[in-house]
Amino acid sequence: MTENERTRLIKEALRAREFSYSPYSGYRVGAALLCEDGRIYAGCNVENAAYTPTNCAERTAFFKAVSEGERRFKAIAIVGSPAGKPSQYAFPCGVCRQVMREFCDPENFLVVTAIDENTYKQRRLSELLPDSFGPENVKGDKEKDDDSFL
Ligand code: THU
Repeated sequence: MTENERTRLIKEALRAREFSYSPYSGYRVGAALLCEDGRIYAGCNVENAAYTPTNCAERTAFFKAVSEGERRFKAIAIVGSPAGKPSQYAFPCGVCRQVMREFCDPENFLVVTAIDENTYKQRRLSELLPDSFGPENVKGDKEKDDDSFL
């Protein structure tokens, strides 16, 4: 990911955060997902009175992209903080990390959590979700020379 791409991605995540529907937690999150083809899909968290149906910003962005035919992704930027409070580094929840794992190479997909365009932390998905379970486990087409298969 270039510096320009990262800057653009963080800006789009900040914009998406404005649409956060979070009347229950008051925690407002925006995400922007960069596809290999250069397209960006943005998403916000969408809460629900029954709580469980709540969708995180990251998954909103992924599901928008996948449902539009995208399958190859480079990076995601995330911004989140309680309404009216200073920005903080918002790392993705475990469920969102697993959804990323479904579609992305853990060694190459980049997760950026940002306060603003110039203040961010960047991690590989493999750092956030080590020793992960993914599609190749189920399909059984991964090399079976690894302890985890014994
Ligand atoms: N949330 C996200 O959107 N992304 C995360 O990775 C963590 C949590 C949302 C879900 C809920 O609407 C609110 O933040 C508080 O958990």
